[in-house]
Amino acid sequence: MKTRQQIVAGNWKMNKTLAEGCELATEIAQRLKATNAQVVLCTPYIHLPLVHDLIKDVANLNLGAQNCHQEDKGAYTGEISVEMLKSVGVDYVILGHSERREYFGESDELLAKKVDKVLAGGLLPIFCCGESLEIRDADTHIEHVQAQIKAGLFHLSAADFEKVVIAYEPIWAIGTGRTASPEQAQDMHAAIRSLLVEQYGAEIAEATSILYGGSVNGGNAAVLFAQPDVDGGLVGGASLKAEEFITIVEATK
Ligand code: PGA
Repeated sequence: MKTRQQIVAGNWKMNKTLAEGCELATEIAQRLKATNAQVVLCTPYIHLPLVHDLIKDVANLNLGAQNCHQEDKGAYTGEISVEMLKSVGVDYVILGHSERREYFGESDELLAKKVDKVLAGGLLPIFCCGESLEIRDADTHIEHVQAQIKAGLFHLSAADFEKVVIAYEPIWAIGTGRTASPEQAQDMHAAIRSLLVEQYGAEIAEATSILYGGSVNGGNAAVLFAQPDVDGGLVGGASLKAEEFITIVEATK
């Protein structure tokens, strides 16, 4: 039986030159102490092979991509396939980040295809969901996030769904320094888990890791991660500094 895992994933976004990225990965690899959590470095594509070599011998330190294309190969200029990601040692792929949804027009339908492709390739999707401030203010955030999860994931069999990691990231908290309160995070995570119970049953729902993202930092990680349904975090800005990122990893349950 699968058990729920604590996970901290650093989303570097479009930051760091290759040299800077290697320096950051090296420092994280050196500072990371024995931990129960799975730690994932989601670097820009060009960093992946070198960062893979730097972290491959460190227990619980994994490599992630920030996106992928939904087709196997072909005339898709500028895109990267799941096979390519596998060939450089990637374990996890972030899908449906709000920046991809908003700036690159990624729809629920497209994301469902990407989820399928990642799973078919044997990699693990970190599927992002989250509401805008407008939706939060209208008090329809729970329905909104549940609809994103249904549309992106609920076509999956139970065996496939078990491999999925969910990341709840309220858009108003991303990069703004305004984090969700621990209660707001817990409420949403509990609502997500109860939706998973309905679709896949209690055992699978209990075993699913649901990460919180949005201005997680060294100071607020412990109180967020202490919530019963918060199983770690997806971290942007604070993942770019080794010391702070390690503090966040150490804040997991
Ligand atoms: P942030 O980004 O930690 O900088 O708010 C989180 C994310 O977008 O994954």
